[in-house]
Amino acid sequence: MKDPNRTSPLHENAVHESAWKHVTGRAQFVNDMPLPPHCLVSKIVVSPVAHGIIKQIDTSEALKVPGVVAVITAKDIPGVNDASSWAHDEELLASKEVNCIGQNIALVLGETYEACEEGAAKVKVDIDPLEAIIDIRDAIAKNSMLPGCHIIARGDLDEAWKNADFILEGEVESPGQEHWYLETHCAQAEVNEDNDVIIYASSQCPTGVQGKAAEILGIDASHVVCIMPRMGGGFGGKETQGAQYGGLAALGAWITRRPVRVWLNRDDDMAWSGKRHPFLSKYKAAFKNDGTILGLHVVSWANSGWAEDLSMCILDRCLYHLDGCYYIPALHFEGYTAKTNLPSNTAFRGFGGPQGFMVTETVLNRAARRLGMDPLDIRIKNYYGDAPRNMMQYETPLKNFRVPMMTDRVIKSARYWERKAEIDAFNAKSRYIKRGIGFMPVKFGISFTNTMLNQAGALVLVYTDGSVAINHGGSEMGQGLHTKMVTIASHNLGIKPEHIRLMNTRTDKVPNTSATAASSGTDLNGAAIKNACDQITARLRKVVAKHLDLAESDIDKIVFDNGLCLAPGKDPVDIVKVINWAYADRVQLSAAGYYATPDIYYDVDKGRGKPFAYYSYGVCVLEIELNTLTGEYQLRDVEAIHDVGDAIIPSIDRGQVEGAFAQGYGWLSCEELVWGADGSLKTHSPATYKIPTYGTIPEPEHFRLSLLEDATAEAVHGSKAVGEPPFVLALALVQALEHAIIACGEDPKKDPQIHWPATPESVLRAIYKQRGDL
Ligand code: MTE
Ligand code: MOS
Repeated sequence: MKDPNRTSPLHENAVHESAWKHVTGRAQFVNDMPLPPHCLVSKIVVSPVAHGIIKQIDTSEALKVPGVVAVITAKDIPGVNDASSWAHDEELLASKEVNCIGQNIALVLGETYEACEEGAAKVKVDIDPLEAIIDIRDAIAKNSMLPGCHIIARGDLDEAWKNADFILEGEVESPGQEHWYLETHCAQAEVNEDNDVIIYASSQCPTGVQGKAAEILGIDASHVVCIMPRMGGGFGGKETQGAQYGGLAALGAWITRRPVRVWLNRDDDMAWSGKRHPFLSKYKAAFKNDGTILGLHVVSWANSGWAEDLSMCILDRCLYHLDGCYYIPALHFEGYTAKTNLPSNTAFRGFGGPQGFMVTETVLNRAARRLGMDPLDIRIKNYYGDAPRNMMQYETPLKNFRVPMMTDRVIKSARYWERKAEIDAFNAKSRYIKRGIGFMPVKFGISFTNTMLNQAGALVLVYTDGSVAINHGGSEMGQGLHTKMVTIASHNLGIKPEHIRLMNTRTDKVPNTSATAASSGTDLNGAAIKNACDQITARLRKVVAKHLDLAESDIDKIVFDNGLCLAPGKDPVDIVKVINWAYADRVQLSAAGYYATPDIYYDVDKGRGKPFAYYSYGVCVLEIELNTLTGEYQLRDVEAIHDVGDAIIPSIDRGQVEGAFAQGYGWLSCEELVWGADGSLKTHSPATYKIPTYGTIPEPEHFRLSLLEDATAEAVHGSKAVGEPPFVLALALVQALEHAIIACGEDPKKDPQIHWPATPESVLRAIYKQRGDL
């Protein structure tokens, strides 16, 4: 809540710090930086087969191409040949075995992209092909698994099966998704006179790029600086996978002693980089005839691609979200990461959460149909509630559960019941056009599931003219993190935002940073910035007390607000004057800030703990209209309420809710990845892979996303994380489509068979099956 005595920009709408630069094209991404003198560009030679053994790599013809300067292979790596985030299972440049189409084999460096392309085409790689596993079912059948298994269990499932009125069994498959960040992977590196390596990288984790480059070159991390101005989107795709391009650029620069830029064009980026993990889950669920769920057994497999990357953490988050918003007395959640010969799948907004939600929501829809119950009623019936119905699967009680209250609100504001009746009446009369309505409740855990990562640092420098430079460990990818950090610094220092300069994220300013991910960028870095500002203002307070002759008891009452220092019983003093008093008194005007999320822990072996600091909540009602002749459908209306706490900048959070919803809707509706049997991606360009566009989203009066006003405060300045949770709201589409498709058949109890993403082809098939024509 806005403090009426303060005029700082905290909790007020604001324009994203890069908005004007983005829309005018002035914003510089790594590939927009002018090439430094003597800079080499590059092309990566990748594996053309999904699995095989490298017999020979012949670079001689490539080196003869005019303009080609070097061709680098595994044997040229001075340090460790590894590009993985931590598992040490991904070679930077393949030396023996290749495990997917698109795996790096060689780096061609040259004066022009044309020369590099030609050179890359002339690198001869002799590979003995091996059997490849592409499909997740094939991986399960052949027990092709990465190490690790995670089980969360509690209660007595045998009792649940015994006491059940009915038991449902089945499978849920959720699809992959391409990140489609506007800026493709890019990094540039140079080596200076002291053998320091400076890397500009489009990465959510500059520390990861720094560490990897140092390891690859066999040098100290202190000799590597990674600078990250901004990304043109990351969405998880640059959490770990940017490191290999930073590493390649550093390797190229180290060997040639010339600056090197590594940049992927759109097709290469799509074909070679990891995506959202598709999941296959098998479930068995026990219900009473009143709709109460008694037990749920789920085994989930993530299609990890060829290497571990973040697969295990993503699987963890799936298991943590299989409960959805529901109290399930007896449960067994078990997960595996399947190894296939596809590019290694990676983080993507929601990080396994959406895949978990999809299972339980599908099960509830089936149970509701069987009982002739409304899908909304069965949800409300099973919501978490008062003890003992507040105990989550890892045996931590859920506090501040706002979803039931938000459900009440959205039912009323979206007129759920009235519209449902109107839609049924419409469907009864309309032969070819059918409508459907769906509802989705969200409870999304906030914190990195790897507890160690929940820490952040900041560096705040105050200059004597009253201007400020702030550094923090987070990275800006469009989500508005930098704008929020300026707002937090402005509020806590009492200096106007126009005098606060946000510096590029750099590993030589703030060390050992976590990736900006898990939606916790603001929670962690904002608290670290606040901590640094608090240290400085504590010092300034003492200076003010001395200069204004304040009583000891008045020191805490001093307020720094928007350029002024307000002390009890005194005239306001210009903050610049206070800063100069401090300088003259030789008081330090800079501070390093730090924050670690308190009170979170988890024991993977026992499946018990408190993995999340708190939960973000949301509810959504959406309506679609389906053309049953073509399978095409359109969003008619979306109403959502999302809990972002006391937003640092409400307008930016609103943008995140809208964007996340649209991306979730794209995942379920139009973004289809098609893989050939040989493991090649057939949909590697915007011509074949369809993302949601302007036309996907209804006009504002039919796209009403609001922020919950009386939210509970959980993180810095009462705010809550917002980046990923609203992605899950789009799962309301499952019910809405099922509703419309059921209206095409005769039997309202027959389960629709929708294969996701629900493209028009997929929907047409489901309609035919519903009618019994297929
Ligand atoms: N918003 C934009 N515009 N671009 C992005 O790449 N990434 C999302 C989300 N919102 C993303 C975005 C993902 S996956 C995460 S984890 C969060 O932003 C990360 O930023 P935050 O922690 O600062 O919210
Ligand atoms: Mo987001 S998937 O945690 O980068």
